[in-house]
Amino acid sequence: MTTAPAFDVQKTTHSRLTETDFKNLEFGKYISDHMLLSDWKDGEWSEPVIVPFGELMMTPAILALHYGQSIFEGMKAFKRNDGSINIFRPQKHHDRMNKSLDRMCMPSIPYEMFIQSLHALIEIDKDWVPTSEGSSLYIRPLVFASESRLGVKVADLYKFVILTSPVGPYYSKPFRLKVEDHFTRTAEGGPGFAKCAGNYGGAFYPTQMARKEGFDQVLWTDHKEHKYIDEVGMMNVMFVLNGKLVTPKLSSAILDGITRDSILTLAREEGIPIEERRISVDELAEGFKNKTLTEAFGAGTAAVVASIAVINIHGTDYTIPTPTPNSIQLRMKAKLHDIRGGEMPDTHRWNYIVKV
Ligand code: COI
Repeated sequence: MTTAPAFDVQKTTHSRLTETDFKNLEFGKYISDHMLLSDWKDGEWSEPVIVPFGELMMTPAILALHYGQSIFEGMKAFKRNDGSINIFRPQKHHDRMNKSLDRMCMPSIPYEMFIQSLHALIEIDKDWVPTSEGSSLYIRPLVFASESRLGVKVADLYKFVILTSPVGPYYSKPFRLKVEDHFTRTAEGGPGFAKCAGNYGGAFYPTQMARKEGFDQVLWTDHKEHKYIDEVGMMNVMFVLNGKLVTPKLSSAILDGITRDSILTLAREEGIPIEERRISVDELAEGFKNKTLTEAFGAGTAAVVASIAVINIHGTDYTIPTPTPNSIQLRMKAKLHDIRGGEMPDTHRWNYIVKV
């Protein structure tokens, strides 16, 4: 555990805590009182500062708005029974953030700066960490090109920001998916593995189309043939097929999910057979028909484990059985919950504890 450095802190004079409905934590609706800021200039990051959450002064010519140099992370912190706060897997999130930054030609963030920034911000907004079942403090680090200029170029100025937001469960019920066989989220060689803003912007249109047809999200397939599964909406996807936990193998088109990695690690330890490989849409349809596909779920930081109720394949709806408490997805979700909360030993050193 690192101790938080004495960053320059400007505390809010008007906390919004009492205006926040902690009983209805719609995802991302409330932002905590403070944010952390640092600027990249002349080849280095400035000493981070913590200020009240609010507007930033910048021109509409900043390069991020025009040419898309903007990346983010999504992490979570949990309140534990002893009152401490647990930031889950900051190292792995930091690794991924730097991979996203590298792919977008943006400067990396040193781990010490990243963890100390998180620590200090969480300490200041400790009362924003919700305590109800399934809730957490969602942490959103982001970096964007802040240089004001219209020429198409890699920016020389960037801003690093961390926001936090108390959140409840992402999906309240199992969701309905449509296999996407026309649009593409990304292609092999593209920035699909990175958490860059454009990946999400480009996904809105196909998702809106699917919503009009009564689905919640799309199940993305490969860009060449729309034959193999990539990921779902904003998450990785996992299936239980013939008793094995099967998930698409990582590629440049698939996000290297931290929840994905955590579930695979825990399942492997339990001796559950795992396959990371290509999964064809036809194999899924076959699994439905012969009832060997028994579970399907999304895995991501925001939703943790999100059960899938229906997958539409080329116009046919296939229904997935409701998961039982003994299902792989609910057992893995419970394990993750217990490791984060301290009810199970943290043998992988995934937890970063902030004593408040
Ligand atoms: C995640 O689940 O990893 C996310 O960051 C989702 C976010 C886009 C809401």
